[in-house]
Amino acid sequence: MKTAIVTGGAGSLGKAICRKLASEGFMVYMTDISEERCKDAIAEIKLGNVRAKKLDVTEESDWISIYKDVISEEGSVDVVVNNAGVNIRHDIEECSVEDWDKMFQINVRSVFLSIKHAIPIMKTQGGGSIINISSVCGLVGHRYTNESYTASKGAVTMLTKSIASRYGKYNIRCNSVHPSTVKTGLVNGFLSDPDRMRERIEEVPLGHLATPEDVAAAVGFLASDEASFLNGVQLPVDGGTTCD
Ligand SMILES: NC(=O)c1ccc[n+]([C@@H]2O[C@H](COP(=O)([O-])OP(=O)(O)OC[C@H]3O[C@@H](n4cnc5c(N)ncnc54)[C@H](O)[C@@H]3O)[C@@H](O)[C@H]2O)c1
Repeated sequence: MKTAIVTGGAGSLGKAICRKLASEGFMVYMTDISEERCKDAIAEIKLGNVRAKKLDVTEESDWISIYKDVISEEGSVDVVVNNAGVNIRHDIEECSVEDWDKMFQINVRSVFLSIKHAIPIMKTQGGGSIINISSVCGLVGHRYTNESYTASKGAVTMLTKSIASRYGKYNIRCNSVHPSTVKTGLVNGFLSDPDRMRERIEEVPLGHLATPEDVAAAVGFLASDEASFLNGVQLPVDGGTTCD
């Protein structure tokens, strides 16, 4: 059985990604800041082949432990989905240095640590697939989104391309997924304002918001053998939002 580690797995997109990968036959390690959150989420998705683990993505020691555990329990780490992320919404003029740094810790340092410790394992086992959840904000300057988020997701996009270019020779594929607004815990706050909701819908040529399942389907494809020649792809799941 192939294994997949998903970060931020108890969140809205994370849960849908875990469900998709489990239904495709992966042994899924759903990780999040607390193991309890994962256990509750697993009870909700009702699939047997999902395990809960605590992983704070900003902590290098947590990354070392999770890879050690998965290797000792399953023997390989085939797919890693770097999904955990936050947005502290301040325009650049009001953004404190502390908030800027926190955004980069959770959104970028996380992906760096994940990949740093995945690569030696994937080299040894002859390959693997790393999927980074960026955003439309990692492709374009998005008029409704604060700079700290856009800059952090841009860093994830370029980190993806660097790994794809330099580690493809080890059969390690690294791709990124770029959702437009999905109605999840990350955005529920501001989407309760009908004007904000209208703005977000109007920017999508398809005329509606993405669902967590839309994003999970893209991740499922990139994780599959069908995508074995896809490396360094930035896959928008945005209904055409970034085409203007
Ligand atoms: N929702 C959207 O509109 C949208 C659009 C584009 C991209 N994204 C990206 O998708 C990803 C998932 O977002 P979501 O909408 O499901 O958000 P969410 O808030 O529902 O879930 C995020 C999860 O990350 C976890 N997390 C936060 N800090 C962590 C840490 N230090 N260590 C481990 N886990 C941590 C949280 O506990 C939570 O479960 C994020 O990277 C986000 O930037 C979301």
